[in-house]
Amino acid sequence: MKKIIAVDGPAGAGKSTVSKIVAARLGYTYIDTGAMYRAVALKVLENGKSVEDVIRDIEIKLDEAGKVFLDGREVTKEIRTPEVSRGASDVAKCGFVRKKLTELQRQMATQGSVIMDGRDIGTQVLPNADLKIFLTATVEERARRRFEELKAKGFAADFEQIKKEISLRDKQDSEREIAPLAMAEDAILLDTTNLTIEQVVAKILRLAQA
Ligand code: CDP
Repeated sequence: MKKIIAVDGPAGAGKSTVSKIVAARLGYTYIDTGAMYRAVALKVLENGKSVEDVIRDIEIKLDEAGKVFLDGREVTKEIRTPEVSRGASDVAKCGFVRKKLTELQRQMATQGSVIMDGRDIGTQVLPNADLKIFLTATVEERARRRFEELKAKGFAADFEQIKKEISLRDKQDSEREIAPLAMAEDAILLDTTNLTIEQVVAKILRLAQA
């Protein structure tokens, strides 16, 4: 049984959806590192302060139910807007932000069996993970999924705009200097374009139990 599972990939590849289900089926803790970058971005957007100021005394907590807390306040919904997505990709370029969040993430991973998703989990945060998955899908399909997700949550959504934003964020995340989005050499590539959520979950469960 693989105790530490790392899942990386671009926006909309299905990382959080499948990771949550796999965690529930295996009784593992799910750690959404993107939510942590989003929380930093939300604080910057709300306070109008610099990232340096914001990161100094920030407190980010993820609970078992998937709720996200920023300085003691629940921000689970607020961090999912397109504005925060853009902001997260911006703050994620800063070395000091990555250092602080990476330390926190490593500490969270010491508490038993975990599945952690993000951009740099297999390459930087948990290079010794027992199983590394790189999830991807075409940009069209990823934009379609994000469009449906935003609509379902009641946000106004424009497909072409979402596609543009996802492509831009992919580019920014892949080209940044520190800990760019990349597939670890020992990761298993899963293209989910033509797979259902249940098919992807089944593949990961098989690999985790191998
Ligand atoms: O949900 P989605 O895949 O769109 O994004 P996310 O996982 O919530 O991550 C939001 C942003 O945070 C990404 O675009 C990255 O720039 C950044 N991020 C990162 O740099 N490293 C991570 N381990 C996780 C997220």
